Amino acid sequence: MTGENFAVFRGESGEVYVLDAYCPHLGANMAVGGCVKGESLECPFHAWRFGGKDGQCVAIPYAEKVPEFAKARRWHSVEVNSFIFVWYHAQNEEPTWKLSALPQLAPSQWVYRGRSEFYISAHIQEIPENGADVAHLNAIHGPSLLAGGTLSTSGFLAGGSWARHLWTATWAAQTGPNEGHKAILSLVHEFRLFSKFAMIKMNVNAVQIGPGYVELSVDTTFGKAVILQSVTPVGPLLQRVIHRMYAAPSMPAPFANMIMLGEAIMFKRDIIVWNHKKFEDRPLLVREDKAINRYRRWYSQFYSENSPRLGKSPDGLDW
Ligand code: FES
Ligand SMILES: [Fe+2]
Repeated sequence: MTGENFAVFRGESGEVYVLDAYCPHLGANMAVGGCVKGESLECPFHAWRFGGKDGQCVAIPYAEKVPEFAKARRWHSVEVNSFIFVWYHAQNEEPTWKLSALPQLAPSQWVYRGRSEFYISAHIQEIPENGADVAHLNAIHGPSLLAGGTLSTSGFLAGGSWARHLWTATWAAQTGPNEGHKAILSLVHEFRLFSKFAMIKMNVNAVQIGPGYVELSVDTTFGKAVILQSVTPVGPLLQRVIHRMYAAPSMPAPFANMIMLGEAIMFKRDIIVWNHKKFEDRPLLVREDKAINRYRRWYSQFYSENSPRLGKSPDGLDW
């Protein structure tokens, strides 16, 4: 939904509303100096007021009559897991699926343990494709975390033969009513010393929900946690990715911080690849890469006829 500007506000009831930022009267940005009145938003320029529920204009302080056609565009939104999601459909279709809240994130349940935020120059499909791309795991996430967010596999800290992360992964699109927009990645992670001793074991179950949201449930010897990932397109080939972590109160804070840091380090390795690669429309795959094909078929449901596309450049560069 690149290129849209929103006025997001909370009515006095606590309900969240999203209207088009630009006032249909003379185009002022209502997110800059607009004022919440009850369940409506008052534009700062001439004080027209728009209802949050439907965008209908409810008051024009200097006019005798409010015309019925005076309306701001209202976007479907939902507040779930402390995020505000906006439904975008290139053909303006109504929402076809819903998000549900994770019970462990209800107030006074799990503990917030921090966030990371990255801007990544990549096609929107690249980032969620990482889950179905099981072969990259042992290649770029195999070298020890101590080597940091680099692609270097040499040097003592990268671990060589004495320390390695081992990953086993399966990816599956979901089927069934109200499930088709989901896919599940199951990951088993071990940190091994001298190819033998499994130091840290971790099971990760990642539920990909729609084109840009993932809930990763992490199960470790020190307790459970969840990492929420959102991918928001903010420009052509520019994505903002946020991770937020919540852990069970039983998980010691330093361990939770270590997971958050470890995740960010591993993610930086992917970012280096994404920032420099091109989007390959027709990749050359082997049989073992077949989940990538399944992923692409699954992801294609999120495009429709009018989805914004990057034009092919005349010299044939495929990006
Ligand atoms: S521009 Fe918003 S009320 Fe005039
Ligand atoms: Fe990765």
